[in-house]
Amino acid sequence: MGDGIADILRAGGVARPAWEARQILAAQGDAVELARRRAGGEPLAYVLGEWDFYGLTLTITPDVLIPRPETELLVDEALAFLRRGRPGPACVLDLCCGSGCVGLAIGANHPSVSVLSGDVSEAALGVAKGNGCQNILRADALAPPDQSLWGRFDALVCNPPYIAEGEELDKSVRDYEPRLALIGGADGLDFYRSLLPGWLRVLRDGGLFAAEVGYRQGGAVRRMAEDAGLKEVAVVSDAAGIGRVVRGVQ
Ligand SMILES: C[S@@+](CC[C@H](N)C(=O)[O-])C[C@H]1O[C@@H](n2cnc3c(N)ncnc32)[C@H](O)[C@@H]1O
Repeated sequence: MGDGIADILRAGGVARPAWEARQILAAQGDAVELARRRAGGEPLAYVLGEWDFYGLTLTITPDVLIPRPETELLVDEALAFLRRGRPGPACVLDLCCGSGCVGLAIGANHPSVSVLSGDVSEAALGVAKGNGCQNILRADALAPPDQSLWGRFDALVCNPPYIAEGEELDKSVRDYEPRLALIGGADGLDFYRSLLPGWLRVLRDGGLFAAEVGYRQGGAVRRMAEDAGLKEVAVVSDAAGIGRVVRGVQ
């Protein structure tokens, strides 16, 4: 059976057919049907219906972005900040939460954190809720935050859509992942313009702002963070030296 599944994947040009065949055989559903979908180009996460992020296995549907390993740096940054902070419960807002992966990973690795997960997509919020996000909020990050959120959070974390209109994308991303989760306006920076300074209002004094940024956006977003009055602003790079997160303190 395993060989037959791997053959279907190989014929579809899948790079690691034996490994993916094992994942498919372990999943719920008709393995041949799943393998055919995968061979047709559908991302493995959508075929399996789940994906791992920061040690958690999350339900993933085509309504949400597939969590990326580079986003784990955003979680690391938030956890490092929260662990340095004052003892006691902390409140975190995970804006543009999608599957809920960032907030869930923070919650799973901090003893006393309360996370509010916000997204404009009702469908994404449904997935986040199914993944265990207990506090969800329909929120538009391109509009100012509701006054009820002002001054409530120790950290605002956000992985917003940041692809520029017209930018070339891998076929599997372009054809399968939600456009709403990808495009951040003409230059990809629309969400950062709204977050900085607009959404800093949700932070308490000394609270953390941390956002994932696209390749080559670090400098522009760092300047926005500095212009918004944040302190200790930095672009945090991954192991390959690529700036992935802009952070600063209110
Ligand atoms: C890049 S995905 C990030 C998802 C998840 N946080 C992750 O890291 O995998 C961006 C998310 O922003 C949401 N989004 C798009 N426009 C939005 C808006 N105006 N306000 C709030 N969320 C929005 C999308 O629905 C999507 O879930």
